[in-house]
Amino acid sequence: MKEARQLAKYLAHLGYGSRKEMEAAIRRGRVTGEGDDLCFDGEPLDPPPGMVILMNKPAGFTCSRNDQGRLVYELLPPRFMLRTPPLSSVGRLDADTTGLLLFADDGKLLHRLISPKSELPKTYEATVARPLEGHEADLFASGTLMLRGEEKPLLPAQLEVTGERTARLTITEGRYHQVRRMFAAAGNHVETLHRAAFGPFTLGGLPEGEWRLLTDEEVASLA
Ligand code: URA
Repeated sequence: MKEARQLAKYLAHLGYGSRKEMEAAIRRGRVTGEGDDLCFDGEPLDPPPGMVILMNKPAGFTCSRNDQGRLVYELLPPRFMLRTPPLSSVGRLDADTTGLLLFADDGKLLHRLISPKSELPKTYEATVARPLEGHEADLFASGTLMLRGEEKPLLPAQLEVTGERTARLTITEGRYHQVRRMFAAAGNHVETLHRAAFGPFTLGGLPEGEWRLLTDEEVASLA
């Protein structure tokens, strides 16, 4: 087992409690096992820094650490909020938007995933208020669509119309309220919005409100 003080510091960084509390927990035998197989109160330890979480976000939860109302972090174990380095959502989904949301604690990875330079595709399923008119796909693919108040046109985005008022939209940027503003620019209004894919990941049957850890292979695929 790691030297007790070092282990207490490590556990504190994982959010299990203060260093003092962790030193006491170790003394009381709450930490068992060796090396990679350490347990706290009989449960395997949370992953070390570098973990990535994939959540199916429900509507009504805000992507913020301190806001009014319900927060996406409430859907994770409370100690995840106390980790060092801190866990952050990879960009944001609006409170009303559902679907795939990643969380990461590696600053470089977060930066890379959020950066427009990454051009990672993100696919959204939208329901709009008025019937789609047929011109939207060309408008979104044009590379010339300008959102109100912005100076740079949007990169081309791909729209697949799936019904009279439903469509799948794949974008490679992540501007503020981008999908809602794109449909507004096309004279429509988004009523429901769901993110079905982020880069190589889909929800794969993960129920709403649930989350899972990405595997080491999945994390490596983002490098
Ligand atoms: N675009 C939006 O308008 N809202 C989201 O939540 C995500 C993308």
